Amino acid sequence: MIIRKADREAAPLYRQVADSVGAMIDQGSFRTGDRIPSIRSLSRQLKVSINTVKVAYSLLEDQCRIEARPQAGYYVRPRLPALPQEPDLADHAVTPLEITSTGLVTRIMLDSLEPDKVPFGAAIPAAELIPALKLNRLLATVNRQRLQESVNYATGAGSLRLRSQIARRMITAGCTLNPDELIITTGASEAVFLALRSTCRPGDTIAVGTPIYFSFLQMFQELGLRVLEIPSSPSSGLHLDTLGQALERQTVQACLVISNVNNPLGICLSDQKKQKLVQLLEEHDVPLIEDDINGDLSFSDQRPSVAKAWDRNNRVLLCSSFSKTLAPGYRVGWVAPGRYQERLLRLKLTTNIASPSPTQLAVAEFLNSGGYEHHLRSIRRAYRTKVLQMSAAVGHCFPPGTRISRPEGGFTLWVELPARVDTIDLYRRAIKLGISFAPGAVFSTSQNHSNCLRLNAAFWSDEHHWAISRLGELAAA
Ligand SMILES: Cc1ncc(COP(=O)(O)O)c(C=O)c1O
Repeated sequence: MIIRKADREAAPLYRQVADSVGAMIDQGSFRTGDRIPSIRSLSRQLKVSINTVKVAYSLLEDQCRIEARPQAGYYVRPRLPALPQEPDLADHAVTPLEITSTGLVTRIMLDSLEPDKVPFGAAIPAAELIPALKLNRLLATVNRQRLQESVNYATGAGSLRLRSQIARRMITAGCTLNPDELIITTGASEAVFLALRSTCRPGDTIAVGTPIYFSFLQMFQELGLRVLEIPSSPSSGLHLDTLGQALERQTVQACLVISNVNNPLGICLSDQKKQKLVQLLEEHDVPLIEDDINGDLSFSDQRPSVAKAWDRNNRVLLCSSFSKTLAPGYRVGWVAPGRYQERLLRLKLTTNIASPSPTQLAVAEFLNSGGYEHHLRSIRRAYRTKVLQMSAAVGHCFPPGTRISRPEGGFTLWVELPARVDTIDLYRRAIKLGISFAPGAVFSTSQNHSNCLRLNAAFWSDEHHWAISRLGELAAA
């Protein structure tokens, strides 16, 4: 094992050591159960400090690649089975479907918010990773300083201070936005709902990647929309060829895509795919509703771009919020509606005039002076570790044949159990034991994901190991 001089100048040394050991595991030089070199011997071999190897091994432990055995050294952990690269396209009849909700989604959402339940259900951030004290202090200070602004309607598009901060931040996602192009909403939910109402009418068809965040399916139902589910690959996302073929055959009024760290699969569309998606929809004159709520939670070093970065004709309605990164209860979201600006603003005004002013001011101040970037770095690290640890527990406790997603950010895991397992039935049994999760069936209008489930890893700690173990037993029974 060597570390080249050029590499030494690139990434921190401990990461290079971790990557080298990781590569040797990937290439099979160290196999599952093998003992890897001791800290001391690797430090001698690579001519790096003992501390560097210690940090590298602790990174590999966090990534669940190796485990420390007391008095015995470090060993390679079993590899977790990943989801298959491609979904079985034959299973997906790409035809528009009516949505028939069973009320199950509402039940699941309410169940998973109950404080006595193990919170693997709703995709909400961990309480300890919300900067509650800092945010609430800023809320008090800024609202005292801006007395009139805090109690008046944040008329029209919402607080200009907040819109300016958001516009500034979106440059890192490759998107140059003017504050005037933004409208503040009550969470990303309202942003998407208004975007749907701005682009579609009852009876219209909307194309979405499947599986898809279940609340969107509920919105489609409320708006009388038919849904055209386009399969998504667990590694690269939406199947553009299938979407292209569908657009040739039928009329679609809008397409909704969660472009980064999608819910539930956790993957980001590549830049190339985002660009192609925008072009394809452009050719068919179809607006794109882009949900980027998780973009700031990507585990990659660079913040992923948004599809809107390639929007030359203002046909992308970009939606997001601070619910995953700051505080879901503040209900601060936004939309950059492109050419639908006027209609969306009118709808916003008729729906609720404006979103609450105090939390807009507090979030604007947090972005301005609260160390948002530092906060993001620390929660991304924490979520990455939690996701890996929960994956390892699932890999250990769930029945043979289980497959697990490899999220590129955020805090949800998508798990595919053997085909015989019905996760709605599993849900009914698990909730009696006080364990919540989201069954796969609610992420689709078809029956394609009935053996899958989504787990929220945000609250993961070793204390929850029993719950994964019980779920595994129930699934195996
Ligand atoms: C992809 C996605 N979009 C939107 C939302 C809703 O966000 P908000 O709480 O900001 O309305 C969620 C919440 O889980 C989500 O996962």
